[in-house]
Amino acid sequence: MKLQNKTVIVTGSGRGIGEYIAKRLAREGGKIVVTGRTTKDIEKVSKEINGAGGRAIFIRGDVTREEDVKTVIHETIKEFGKVDVLVNNAGIGLKKYIWETGVEEFEEVMDVNVKGIFLYMKHIIPEMGLNGGLIINISSGAGKEGIPMLGAYCASKFAVIGLTESAAAEVKKVKIVALCPGSVDTGMFKRLFPGEKADLKPEEVAEKVADICTQPGKYRQGQSIELY
Ligand SMILES: NC(=O)c1ccc[n+]([C@@H]2O[C@H](COP(=O)([O-])OP(=O)(O)OC[C@H]3O[C@@H](n4cnc5c(N)ncnc54)[C@H](OP(=O)(O)O)[C@@H]3O)[C@@H](O)[C@H]2O)c1
Repeated sequence: MKLQNKTVIVTGSGRGIGEYIAKRLAREGGKIVVTGRTTKDIEKVSKEINGAGGRAIFIRGDVTREEDVKTVIHETIKEFGKVDVLVNNAGIGLKKYIWETGVEEFEEVMDVNVKGIFLYMKHIIPEMGLNGGLIINISSGAGKEGIPMLGAYCASKFAVIGLTESAAAEVKKVKIVALCPGSVDTGMFKRLFPGEKADLKPEEVAEKVADICTQPGKYRQGQSIELY
């Protein structure tokens, strides 16, 4: 129970990797804020955490909307008094050749995967600056290497690493790292790569996030942590 008395926001935690991260950190004693756009999903995950003896609330929010991001952060502080850990997990995928990618599709990927993380860091760092904190930005192996048909997605995940390194160099009291997993067996992977086998199970990503949260000293400020 290494996260007792710690408040944790996990974006995109109504399903997929985020759901596993939320449940794993709840088992570590964290008070979890489950957030995403689909109320029935975040409500279900929150109920399951509370039913298993953990502590969670759910707050609906779209990471691309600044007002939603501010609401999630302020409601969290109203409920739990502070926020200690943020896992910027929400993300979308797109598998298309660059010449087939619509401008609106490109913009949507950048909006969710990059602007979402920018907005959360913009509004949470001043709150965490007082007591310190930890931010884990979920990038990808696709943030380290360009992959055919994943141009927009790779661009967004490379950008997550740039945002992470810049923010990490700007602050001292908040630890900020990026996590770059290989392919993970979730709805996103199945939609993009039907019939293929993923490198990782979502439990393994959640375990790595728990390790970063409970032993942050193992990782350096601004590090991109690869997981394959
Ligand atoms: N699966 C992989 O192979 C893989 C590998 C490396 C990294 N990643 C990264 O890991 C993260 C999670 O991926 P996943 O595989 O778990 O995907 P997923 O199963 O599709 O889940 C995505 C989550 O993000 C939320 N989300 C999407 N758009 C959002 C928005 N605008 N505002 C708030 N929440 C939003 C979704 O909830 P709502 O739709 O209800 O909002 C959902 O909870 C992503 O950042 C992804 O890029 C995935």
